[in-house]
Amino acid sequence: MDKKAIERRINELREQINYHNYLYYVLDSPEISDAEYDKLMQELVKLENTYPDLIAPDSPTQRIGAPPLEEFQSVTHTLPMLSLSNTETEEETLEFDRRIKRFLHLPESESIEYVTEPKLDGLAVEVVYEGGRLRVGSTRGDGFTGEDVTLNLRTIRTIPLNLLKKHEPTPEKLEVRGEVFIRVRDFRELNQQREENGEPFFANPRNAAAGSLRQLDSKITAKRPLDIFFYGIGEVMGHRFETHWEILNTLRGWGLKTNPLNKVCHGIHEAIDFYKEIGGMRDSLDYEIDGVVIKVNRLDLQERLGTVARSPRWAVAYKFEPRQATTKILKIEAQVGRTGILTPVAIMEPVRIGGVTVSRSTLHNQDEIDRKDVRAGDWVLVQRAGDVIPEVVKVITSKRTGKEIPYRLPDKCPVCGSNVLKEDVYYRCIGMNCPAQLKERIRHFASRRAMDIEGLGEKLTEQLVDKGLVKNISDIYYLTKEQIAGLERMADKSARNIIDAVEGSKGRELPRVIYALGIRHVGEQIGKILAQQFGSIERLMSAMEEDLQAIDTIGPEIARSVVQFFNQKNNIKEIERLREAGVAFPPLSKIQSEKLKGKVFVFTGALKFFSRDEAKDRVESVGGHVASSVSKNTDFVIAGEEPGSKASKARELGVTILTEDEFLKML
Ligand code: IVH
Repeated sequence: MDKKAIERRINELREQINYHNYLYYVLDSPEISDAEYDKLMQELVKLENTYPDLIAPDSPTQRIGAPPLEEFQSVTHTLPMLSLSNTETEEETLEFDRRIKRFLHLPESESIEYVTEPKLDGLAVEVVYEGGRLRVGSTRGDGFTGEDVTLNLRTIRTIPLNLLKKHEPTPEKLEVRGEVFIRVRDFRELNQQREENGEPFFANPRNAAAGSLRQLDSKITAKRPLDIFFYGIGEVMGHRFETHWEILNTLRGWGLKTNPLNKVCHGIHEAIDFYKEIGGMRDSLDYEIDGVVIKVNRLDLQERLGTVARSPRWAVAYKFEPRQATTKILKIEAQVGRTGILTPVAIMEPVRIGGVTVSRSTLHNQDEIDRKDVRAGDWVLVQRAGDVIPEVVKVITSKRTGKEIPYRLPDKCPVCGSNVLKEDVYYRCIGMNCPAQLKERIRHFASRRAMDIEGLGEKLTEQLVDKGLVKNISDIYYLTKEQIAGLERMADKSARNIIDAVEGSKGRELPRVIYALGIRHVGEQIGKILAQQFGSIERLMSAMEEDLQAIDTIGPEIARSVVQFFNQKNNIKEIERLREAGVAFPPLSKIQSEKLKGKVFVFTGALKFFSRDEAKDRVESVGGHVASSVSKNTDFVIAGEEPGSKASKARELGVTILTEDEFLKML
């Protein structure tokens, strides 16, 4: 391709990608699959990498952020960004409608056409397009002057870098306004990441959105899941509108995302119905809203109505009940989750927040308690966002009496009394039989790659624990067929199968058993290494941190976790009980013969003695390895019951076929 042709292809790709972005982000109805989209993007990236002089700042590849700024420049809005006056009751909203009619000298019986929109709780921005290209983006600031956050806004995928030309001719100039926000689910994930990094939490999605947008380093903004709904315009040149509804539709046609819930209402009663309908959806929406905006649709009427102070007479924010309230913390407790993590929870005097009574609120972790200095007895501001667990926003220190008691998470588990392992901001109970974690630990113990007890799934575990038949993991080995058959949806035969599966698991080799114990940081691989190095569970149990750290792959965190686990008396007791029950902890057989070293095995058909994973372990323990298909490099095909096409392939290629018994003998 010559340079001209490459340039043409690049432009074509950019246009296609922009169009598919629009379908995906704005209309929510993509026409191509993610994979097809990725292909277009990859082709563009490749061409731009080869011809860097053809990279344009508005290419869809350029949303990754720019070098950090020292400070934000200020931007003066051509037309001020107004705020809205509020109503809180139906009566006040009816009065808003009556006032409009009085002002316009219309009879009360006349009905005004309104556009109603959910009022997003994020932060307002203005984006300026000239000749269809994004030039400047700014925050609302004080309404007259805001901060230049162009680089940050450019990283938001729902803000087009170029207006779409498909439906409408582009205006010479367009100042468009909208609300930047973060979805509740993304907010929760962001906070979780921050918890893992030991960073302070964002109090709510609004703060998270504001904090993300006001970053001097746009590369950070680029990583934050910001989104936008556009809801209005500032100065526009080269296009005329008659109604607000027409504005919204045209914006959408230009590729600017508007809220699909927006609606035209005939008369104030329909607008009030919309408010009620959206209010009912508030908890199930995935973004935060704090009311409904009601706007006169006709722009000539808007003009006649004008503004008072800094709010237009033609619009109002009909607010929902606030999602914050103050209440008193009665006490602080540690709650143990199913993975053993201790979470501090404030037990509060019950208080209504946005229609729901709240009496518990998460305090997240010790760092957050310390940062906010929350004490038992404190008066606090509590908030609820979407369906997120209520949170303490801050302490009302002016209400302190001096009797408030600071809180520290305990170093013993409040449920089972075991020691608590501290790791970064997490406090975790290490008790193997901690009732709070028992179901989760049994699920792990019985899982396929651990003890592989077929049939002992989530539902059965649930019943066994709830009925008190299993209080410790080792109790699994004392269950009788009659006990299991007595449970819901358990036929005699399935009960028998489970007893057999439990029995069969007693011989699982040491690496699997170590993994099954659920020691923090000890996954399958580390389980194998520990088994190889120590050879028996007893030797592992008496290992010191130094012994463990002397092993290549074992770092201080794993070493500490293993030692703490075996220092816990009730864990040792449980391992003894497992032994008494017949769990054998057999060490992994050493690579006994060099004869099978490097040999390639393929399995086909159902095996009687092993699961596929076990068979694989056994082959590896003698130095061989397992492949999934037969080729001329295959040394042995092991044929179980009803072997498949692999056996015929082996015959064709003259590969040795062994029965499972022959395979066993060979091992
Ligand atoms: S219209 C003159 N529409 O509410 C009208 N505002 O107090 C100006 N907001 O700063 C705003 N959703 O941040 C409008 N659909 C919506 C909105 C909305 C959220 C925010 C916006 C504005 C504030 C007004």
